[in-house]
Amino acid sequence: MDKVAVISGASRGIGAAVANRLADAGWRLSLGMRTPQDANARWAEHHVSEFDAAAQGEARWIREALEHYGRIDAVICCAGVMEPQDVIEIDDDVLDAMMEVNVKSPRRLVRAAWDALGGSGQGRVIMLASLSGKRVASAASGSYSMSKFAAVALTHGIRQKGWDQGIRATAICPSYVNTDMAAAITEFPAQQMTQPVDIARMVELALDLPNTASVAEIAVTCRREAHY
Ligand SMILES: NC(=O)c1ccc[n+]([C@@H]2O[C@H](COP(=O)([O-])OP(=O)(O)OC[C@H]3O[C@@H](n4cnc5c(N)ncnc54)[C@H](OP(=O)(O)O)[C@@H]3O)[C@@H](O)[C@H]2O)c1
Repeated sequence: MDKVAVISGASRGIGAAVANRLADAGWRLSLGMRTPQDANARWAEHHVSEFDAAAQGEARWIREALEHYGRIDAVICCAGVMEPQDVIEIDDDVLDAMMEVNVKSPRRLVRAAWDALGGSGQGRVIMLASLSGKRVASAASGSYSMSKFAAVALTHGIRQKGWDQGIRATAICPSYVNTDMAAAITEFPAQQMTQPVDIARMVELALDLPNTASVAEIAVTCRREAHY
């Protein structure tokens, strides 16, 4: 396997689980982290880049990854933030900051990698969106849902734009996943949540499926929902 995946938010949570699974499968990784000096020793043989989604560093990171590996086959956007504020109370600057990390930075990251993704003829983009990008479950999740609906739309826009170049894009849309993010917002028992390793299995499947078996969205839940 000589394929290369770029993963944002790889320091912990879902991004770390995805990185571990893909490394086990033989992928070569370029990992974006805000504090690369804290990176796990396992990543010594991979490429780790300092990356803050709020700091417009996408083009530099992708340039570094291409210098290091010479190719990019997949971009996996796992960096994300959740502000549990409703759509009336949230201030513009807080909403803007969440949109920056959850939507605008992933767009810049994919744009920076676009030619490399198209060049392979089988480029893949995986967006860790959310089930909050499919439905608004509560008032407090309203602002986050705004960002995640936009992340799902971004994924579909990428899929439409890249189809003829063999780029396939998948939005993964879970409800609660057992990470720091969910622990901060719910009392729902951690062991009953979807586990990050299972999200990583879905990411690997979406990466491996051929161009003729594109999956645009994967909706995932650990509890009964009206429609999922
Ligand atoms: N957990 C859930 O229940 C759940 C459900 C649905 C969707 N999601 C989505 O899945 C993705 C991963 O979430 P998670 O559960 O793994 O969250 P997490 O455990 O809170 O981890 C968040 C990750 O995003 C990174 N990050 C945050 N702000 C960043 C920034 N400005 N620049 C670069 N990296 C930044 C964090 O890096 P640091 O270590 O530097 O903070 C960390 O690696 C997010 O998009 C989230 O919205 C999560």
